[in-house]
Amino acid sequence: IKTLGVLTSGGDCAGLNAVIRAVTYHANRVCGWRVLGVLDGSLGLMEKPPRYRELHADSFDEGLLREGGTFLGTTNKGDPFRFPQPDGSFRDRSGDFAAGVRELGLDALVVIGGDGSMRILSRLCEQAGIGMVGVPKTIDNDVHGTEYAVGFASAINVVTDALDRLQPTAASHHRVMILETMGRDAGHIALNGGIAGGADVILVPELPYTLDGLVAHLRRVLSQGRSHALLVVAEGVKTEEGKPVSISLPGEQLRYGGVGYYLEREISRRLGAETRVTVLGHLQRGGTPSPRDRLLASAFGVHAVRLVAERRFSRMVAWQDRGVVDVPLSAVTVGSRLLQPDDPLIATARGVGTYIGDV
Ligand code: F6P
Repeated sequence: IKTLGVLTSGGDCAGLNAVIRAVTYHANRVCGWRVLGVLDGSLGLMEKPPRYRELHADSFDEGLLREGGTFLGTTNKGDPFRFPQPDGSFRDRSGDFAAGVRELGLDALVVIGGDGSMRILSRLCEQAGIGMVGVPKTIDNDVHGTEYAVGFASAINVVTDALDRLQPTAASHHRVMILETMGRDAGHIALNGGIAGGADVILVPELPYTLDGLVAHLRRVLSQGRSHALLVVAEGVKTEEGKPVSISLPGEQLRYGGVGYYLEREISRRLGAETRVTVLGHLQRGGTPSPRDRLLASAFGVHAVRLVAERRFSRMVAWQDRGVVDVPLSAVTVGSRLLQPDDPLIATARGVGTYIGDV
């Protein structure tokens, strides 16, 4: 290996810069390779000339470890195999990606992304004839093969902090406060943040609920000496009848959000309690990475470079049983890892008196 490429792909999150720092340090200083940071994910390689920044371990100041976002930029638009054109049609631009790889002389690529990015980038790298190693990142924590993805822990901190701030105002006004979290089709953020922040109700897309069951639970909470309640709902939760609640306009790419307002209407109607909604949105993706995410990012970055050095490609670094390991990409690119009904944290939520669907 002489030249290693690194890029971030998909939605950003806290801890991406910490991964890039670890990859660069280890590849540059320990292995002695040239490191090129590709700008804006696969888009940077598809352009002529390709857009990149040469990365040197000694030019990083330690601010990078602490900074949110990705200084390389990222994209979640445009699968190069089906790249959207201005006239609404699609074109296969995977050849442009391979041309970019050749022009930069990359021998291998570290891709920091979620399951969707891993799937697309592994096909692109195969076609371009270079080895790829993946590093999982996503606030949704829905990547198979790893207990934790970079960004998840920081997002949980944001949710917990939001509940810490909502509880006193809920108590002062005797209100039901609804907090809508991100997570796409997975409920990991809502479940983990909801438990940590002491929610009375947690709704996740993977577990069905009824408005009757939910309202009966709130009534019980409010009749046991408490005059307020906290409810956390994941953005992927549907209506009681299973209809999607989405803020997408017709013809737009699917965007989640808005289920909090549906619940506000239904709960205030049935319970008669004053109800307010907070949609956390992209606050969950920004800000300083938590210590846990910095640790994960550093361990993942170093291990990814080791895999490249050993030419063990088509693998993703992962966290399992208190340590960093690696798993085949083929086991990761099978789709999103949703919450399973036997997840121990579901029992934990129920064990502390939280409603998380009728039993
Ligand atoms: O996958 C991460 C995520 O933040 C989801 O939780 C959310 O639904 C989506 O990305 C938002 O995407 P965008 O930034 O494109 O609105």
